[in-house]
Amino acid sequence: MPKVKSKQFQAPKGMRDILPEEQVYWDKFIKSAQRLAEDYGFQKIETPVLEDAELFVRSTGQTTDIVTKQMYTLRTSSHVRLALRPENTPGVLRAYLQDGLVNLPQPVKLYYYGPMFRHEQPQAGRWRQLYQFGLETIGEKASIMDAQIIQFCFHLFRLLGLTKINMHINSIGCQQCRPAYRRALVDYFRHRKNKLCPDCQRRLKENPLRLLDCKEEKCQPIKAQAPATVDYLCDECHRHFKEVLEYLDEMEMPYFLNNALVRGLDYYTKTVFEFFLEENEKYSAIALGGGGRYDDLVKELGGKPTPAVGMALGVDRIVDVMKLTLKVKPTYNPKVFLVELGEMGRRKSLKLFETLHEAGIVTAESFGRDSIKAQLKNADRLGVKLALILGQQEALDGTVIIRDMQSGVQETVPQEKMVDQVKKRLAKN
Ligand code: HAM
Repeated sequence: MPKVKSKQFQAPKGMRDILPEEQVYWDKFIKSAQRLAEDYGFQKIETPVLEDAELFVRSTGQTTDIVTKQMYTLRTSSHVRLALRPENTPGVLRAYLQDGLVNLPQPVKLYYYGPMFRHEQPQAGRWRQLYQFGLETIGEKASIMDAQIIQFCFHLFRLLGLTKINMHINSIGCQQCRPAYRRALVDYFRHRKNKLCPDCQRRLKENPLRLLDCKEEKCQPIKAQAPATVDYLCDECHRHFKEVLEYLDEMEMPYFLNNALVRGLDYYTKTVFEFFLEENEKYSAIALGGGGRYDDLVKELGGKPTPAVGMALGVDRIVDVMKLTLKVKPTYNPKVFLVELGEMGRRKSLKLFETLHEAGIVTAESFGRDSIKAQLKNADRLGVKLALILGQQEALDGTVIIRDMQSGVQETVPQEKMVDQVKKRLAKN
């Protein structure tokens, strides 16, 4: 055989392993979010991680950073161009149209969780494989739906122990009022063109609204003085935005009106919002989630005009901030430890383990360890109340020894009585 140099493989840049010790936080997030979404009347949807790349060009936006710079794409052998989804709103709408959800009573309220892929420069809180939890309410134009999505986010943050959350909110208008705003924006930036970064000079030509997304230092002072969308809203958008803010006031939800918030995706109309952690040096500039209304997107993708609103939370980032404030108890909490000894004991131990599990008794073990000392040490470390010892003799006799870990007192009982005896002792403890 030719000699191959051994190689230590690494996860791709910007991607990572989420190890067991971190999973308690992820579980806590996912269980809380899923439960709450269902309580709010949202139903789960899963869509493929790969979609036709054109779907994102048409919806997220041809000139957005996400589509021009960050999409992972591939060509199949039959020359179809697919993309690893950089976000899931387009995929959910594709499913809504393709799978006939359009025929259900509206609005259709969906939630999803899963990995997204963006080829960005990795940095704190920014991954190339990132996880989002999202909600989409499709088929209802009422402003109360925008407020409900925002309410869900604050409710979830509260359940996760994150109380210091800032929300930035804005309205970017609709097809009616956007042209006048765009003209004002272009006019403003054109007079300052020479002071803009090269990306913004391009944006000025291709997609002026994106000028307000720029993160370049030199563009910030210019951006800060730019015309505000809210000054250009038509009557309908103005009324809608006012109502959303009234709902938030009614619920005493804090918000910050941010004129420069336009979001980095092209499909939004009317309300847009983002969440940040308050007063935190490391995290206050990193969005924990964001969303908004997108009343034209279903039509853009070939459906009937259908208003919709939604949001996605960045789970990687939320888990990071949960770790700062929250103590999460591990979910694995065995009360009993099964010790096996000798060939016969080992052979019978799997069956006994299953019997205990079926009776609802979570049982730990360290099968494969020979010595009783090592096994009992593990039982001690886990803090279980009882150890069950199945040795050669017990396996032959059909019995098992129950040992109280605190007092060290042991008793031999027939295996048929094991479950009853264990339950009795656990109840007494
Ligand atoms: P987005 O603002 O692009 O919106 O992403 C939502 C959230 O995903 C961000 O606020 C952030 O927390 C997280 N996120 C984005 N990129 C990264 C990254 N590279 N690393 C870690 N986390 C990241 C959307 O994706 C829209 N689909 C949301 C939406 C749903 N709008 C309406 N419906």
